[in-house]
Amino acid sequence: MKGIILAGGAGSRLYPLTQVASKQLQPVYDKPMVYYPLTVLIASGIRAFCLISTPQDIPRFQQLLGDGKRWGISIEYREQAKPEGIAQAFLIADSFIGSDPVTLILGDNIFFGGDAFPRAFADFKSGATIFAYHVTDPQRYGVVEFDAEGRAVSLEEKPAQPRSNYAVPGVYLYDNEVVGIARSLQPSPRGELEITDVNREYLRRGALRVQRLSRGTAWLDAGTSTSLHDASAYVQTIEKRQGMKLGCPEEAALYRGFLSLGQFEALVSAMPVCEYRDYLAELAAEVRRVGIKSA
Ligand code: TTP
Repeated sequence: MKGIILAGGAGSRLYPLTQVASKQLQPVYDKPMVYYPLTVLIASGIRAFCLISTPQDIPRFQQLLGDGKRWGISIEYREQAKPEGIAQAFLIADSFIGSDPVTLILGDNIFFGGDAFPRAFADFKSGATIFAYHVTDPQRYGVVEFDAEGRAVSLEEKPAQPRSNYAVPGVYLYDNEVVGIARSLQPSPRGELEITDVNREYLRRGALRVQRLSRGTAWLDAGTSTSLHDASAYVQTIEKRQGMKLGCPEEAALYRGFLSLGQFEALVSAMPVCEYRDYLAELAAEVRRVGIKSA
């Protein structure tokens, strides 16, 4: 399965921060925001990536992430000239996707905990798999309604009167049909190709799987100053308490076997002296001693 990270958009709610760097390059505690969704996909076994962003921000993402080789992955870059909708990603990345299934993750969605994603990726065969997460403010998101048997029966984008408290987070898995579906979409009244319309089409075809994320999974979106700060505070709290980092692509690549321990150690020794390097160096020493204990 191929992976798309969608990291464009205006980021207007983070003004003036976003005048100099896009939202997904802003720090979430000790790492750039995009590290978190990237790590989710690496931990789920994705190796081939396409990052989509604005023409002005692509060079900065390239500077940060490069071609991905150092993490045992590949990263291509594509421009989205204007934020004309999340589903436009499938048209922009058409040649990257080829004839493969594809996952899309939003560059400002941050997830921690649970193994729902690696399991969903391993189980994926065809159709679409999306997720549902209980929130207090569903009207800000795509909302999914379930029937008494727990089957998804409706999907609505930012409804004024939500039919449930289940929002759809920004991770979506699709078979290759998604490219054709995206091509057939009409822009919504707000002028965007809506991801909710893609999901609705899979629902209509009886090919949509909606998996509820348990309360053990944290889903944060970091689109406003307050939520950005909250996300940083959350990461700091967990990292300080556990002595384990969140959103660390090097670590996920090692655990996933994309990097050998030798490659990992070489990568770490090329880093400047800093707390991030100390953490990874300790991890390497521990893996040398006892092997890999957890993913
Ligand atoms: P939003 O948070 O809805 O929009 P935004 O990032 O432009 O922010 P603001 O509302 O403050 O101006 O977008 C969700 C994510 O999807 C975010 O990571 C940006 C990305 N996105 C694109 O890359 N292209 C698009 O066309 C759209 C609609 C979103």
